[in-house]
Amino acid sequence: MTDRPLKDELLAVALEAARRAGELLRDGRPADLGVAATKTSSIDVVTEMDIAAEKLITDFLAEERPDDGLLGEEGASTAGSSGVRWVIDPIDGTVNYLYGLPSWSVSIAAELHGEAVVGVVAAPMRGETYHAVLDEGAYAAGERVRCRPAPAFDQALIGTGFGYLTERRAAQAEVVRALLPRVRDIRRAGSAAIDLCDVACGRLDGYYERGLNPWDFAAGALIAREAGARTGGRPGDPLSGELAVAAPPGLFEPLQELLDNLGAWHD
Ligand code: IPD
Ligand code: CA
Repeated sequence: MTDRPLKDELLAVALEAARRAGELLRDGRPADLGVAATKTSSIDVVTEMDIAAEKLITDFLAEERPDDGLLGEEGASTAGSSGVRWVIDPIDGTVNYLYGLPSWSVSIAAELHGEAVVGVVAAPMRGETYHAVLDEGAYAAGERVRCRPAPAFDQALIGTGFGYLTERRAAQAEVVRALLPRVRDIRRAGSAAIDLCDVACGRLDGYYERGLNPWDFAAGALIAREAGARTGGRPGDPLSGELAVAAPPGLFEPLQELLDNLGAWHD
């Protein structure tokens, strides 16, 4: 399928865009950073830095790859003509960024004819960047990574996240209520892209969430898969906004089945 020089070029461009945006966000965060706007609800916030970082990334991509399409969380949307589309979350974990918590990332994926072929997630406050190229493995800070082998279900450390709408959160709380007594513990770190990379690096056994947008998972899901994890939605479905599940084979299947039975795919 994809020719190697194209994948290499897309990876180099994604790494450089994420590096520049990460540096802007880490070094340029105003001490008095406030909320610039809200989106789906009063707690779904955008800061001036989300907007500035998306502009930096899209300006860079327009220079380097002028014929590609774009989809960005803060509104970037271009069709393009090359078959490549960039899916961009300038800050994944905006609430953490707003509060000065370290768990936020810049997530950039390149799709070729609709399939993710390159994923880069930069987590500047961890000093780490994760990346993957389709069929070429996953890396953290330049080192090849593999997800953990599946533990017994009741020993699994599971990451998750919650949406911004009250009704959805109430349903998500019910799922957590049923899941928590059955696993080692649950983590809610606040950046879906980092959660997926944590599965890739063996820092979480598994991850699930309902309500993600393509920019939250496009890069991280490829990185998790290239590290050996399975990803999906409801049984038989690909990972999507309806439900996202990522875990190594052996944990993925029972986790997906339990989440399906618990109704983690609906509000
Ligand atoms: C959010 C984060 C969070 C997840 C939410 C996402 P944002 O993205 O990934 O971990 O639980 O579903 O919307 O709003 O910080 O870009
Ligand atoms: Ca996001």
